[in-house]
Amino acid sequence: MSMRDGSRALERCAALAAAVTLSVAGGAAWTGEKDGPHLGRPATAADIAAWQLNVFPDGTGLPPGRGTAAQGAPLFAKRCASCHGEEGIGGTAEELAGGHEPLTSAVPDKNIGTYWPYATTLFDFTRRSMPMDAPGSLTADEIYALTAYLLFRNGIIKAGEEMNARTLPKVKMPNRNGFLWIDAGGQPPPSP
Ligand code: HEC
Repeated sequence: MSMRDGSRALERCAALAAAVTLSVAGGAAWTGEKDGPHLGRPATAADIAAWQLNVFPDGTGLPPGRGTAAQGAPLFAKRCASCHGEEGIGGTAEELAGGHEPLTSAVPDKNIGTYWPYATTLFDFTRRSMPMDAPGSLTADEIYALTAYLLFRNGIIKAGEEMNARTLPKVKMPNRNGFLWIDAGGQPPPSP
């Protein structure tokens, strides 16, 4: 190919590129919802509220309500023991109480009392996913009572201590400082 042919080829390429650019610009531009696939419907505030169940270690997201371990015991027997065993021990699903051997022991127990760093996670997890055969069926008072019961069964609070949005975040879990904080983007560790 001569220099001259080469530069003509380049010119043709440039013209073609310009034509392609023009046809994209001249074609149907995306105008958002008007041209959308029109599937489903916009999420309403009620839809979002039903899914926005996150509870944070500082208690953000906890609803009003209250309950004690004494109130939680019969509920646990009725709604949870079939899978988790009587008093949270010896069922087919995860043991929720029982052994107290710390993670550093030769034969550690990995359960709520020895492993979970925040008490508020118990409320969050139970509210969104338990009982496994009917998630979402418990009231806030029932979840506080069950949370209190499991904390009591793990030797962390007393039977009569009321759990609510103020007291639950203050419960210090035994393994609270057993995790390494990985700094992802300069965030400080959660305070409680
Ligand atoms: C139909 C069986 C079933 C019932 C009933 C049930 N659970 Fe569970 N639960 C499970 C299973 C299975 C897991 C393990 C799920 C997983 O690891 O993802 C689990 C996990 C849990 C955990 C997390 C345990 C851990 O160490 O990770 C908690 C807390 C819990 N359940 C609480 C409850 C409470 C409170 C009730 C009663 C309101 C209840 N569950 C009723 C089957 C059940």
